[in-house]
Amino acid sequence: MHFYQNHSLLNYNTFGLDVKTKYFFEFYSEEDLKEVLQHNYVRDNPLLVIGQGSNLLFLNDFDGVVLHSAIRGIQVVEETEDAIIIEVGSGVIWDDLVGYCVKQGWSGIENLSLIPGETGAAAIQNIGAYGVEIKDVVQKIKAIRIADGQSSVFEQEECHYAYRESIFKKTLKGQYVVTSVIIRLSREPIFNLSYNHLEKEVLKNGVINLENIRNTIIQVRESKLPDPKILGNAGSFFMNPVVTRAKYEALQSQFPEMPHFFVSEQEEKIPAGWLIEQCGWKGRTIGKVGVHAKQALVLINCGGAKGKEIADLAHQIQQSVAEKFGIALTPEVNFIS
Ligand code: EPU
Repeated sequence: MHFYQNHSLLNYNTFGLDVKTKYFFEFYSEEDLKEVLQHNYVRDNPLLVIGQGSNLLFLNDFDGVVLHSAIRGIQVVEETEDAIIIEVGSGVIWDDLVGYCVKQGWSGIENLSLIPGETGAAAIQNIGAYGVEIKDVVQKIKAIRIADGQSSVFEQEECHYAYRESIFKKTLKGQYVVTSVIIRLSREPIFNLSYNHLEKEVLKNGVINLENIRNTIIQVRESKLPDPKILGNAGSFFMNPVVTRAKYEALQSQFPEMPHFFVSEQEEKIPAGWLIEQCGWKGRTIGKVGVHAKQALVLINCGGAKGKEIADLAHQIQQSVAEKFGIALTPEVNFIS
C-alpha cells in the first residue's frame, strides 16, 4: 500500500480543483485493502473512496481519509461459444479496458468509449452513453465491507441498477469498497447504434465494426466535451430529468421542438442540456467558472476556480430551469464537503 498525509487531490478530480486530503491510502490488492481498513486513521475519520474523481466536486479540503484502488489487471475467467467473461480490477482505467476489448473483438462496451474514470467507480455509478449502460454487461461485483473487511460478491440483480444509480449509491452508500467487476462481453459483435444519429455518423467513417464505432464515439465526444486535462469538468453535471407524461405533454405543447426520450408509458426523459441552453446559459462564464459552449450540461473550471464557485453556478442554473420549466435538476456530480 501507499500512504500519504496532506496529499494533493489535484490529479484525482477532473474539475482540476487544488484541494488536499488529510490522509490518502492507495491499495494494490484485496489483502492490502483489508489491512488498510484496520488502520486507526481509517477507522477514526470520514472516509471517501475515489476513482479518477471524474464525478466529484470538492467544496473544500477533505478532512478525512481518501482511499484509491490501484488494483489493475484484466483476466478472462470464462469463455463460452458466444461470450467471454472477464474480471477487471477496480483501478483499471475504464477507457483502457474499452480499447483492449475492442482490439480483442469483444463487444458490449464500445459505446462507452472515452468515458473518464476507473472501472470500480464506473460500475457503482452505472455509467452510460449512446444507448448503453455498464449494467448491461456487469455480471457480478466483488467488494469488501468496510465495517469488518469481509469479502462479498454482488450478483447483477443485487446491484439494483437504474439510470446513474446502484445500491452502492443508495442503501449501501459508504459501506463497501469495490475491488473488481466481472463483465460479460459478446464474442460475436452485437452493435447498438440506435441512439440519435450514431449509425449515420459511424457510416460516414466507414463500415460498421467495433473499431469504427469506438473511433466515431471518440470523435463525437471530443467534438462536444472538453478534455478535463485542458478545461476542468466532470462531464454531465446534472442527470437528464425524467418527468410524468402529463408534465411532458404540458411542456411539449409550449415547446414543440423540445427533444425527448421515451422511458415508459408513464414517463419521458428530457435532455437537461436543452433545458439549460433554453435558459440562456450555454457558453456563459461567471468569473472563473462557466457553461461549456458546445454542451450546456457541462460546467467548466476556466482556471483556478474553487469548488464553491462551481456549486454556486450549478445552483443558479437549477433556479433558472425551475422557474422556466418547473423542473428540478438533480446533480449527477457528487458534492464533497
Ligand atoms: N442538447 C441541447 N443543448 C445542449 C446539449 C444537448 O439542445 O447544450 C440536446 C441535443 O441536441 C440532443 C439532446 O439534448 O437532442 C441530447 O444531447 P446529447 O446527445 O449530447 O446527450 P445528453 O443527454 O446531453 C447524455 C449523457 C452523457 C452521454 C450522452 C450520449 C446524462 C446526464 N448524460 O448526455 O453522459 O455521453 O447522453 O449518450 O445522461 C456523463 O454522464 O457525464 C455524460 C457525458
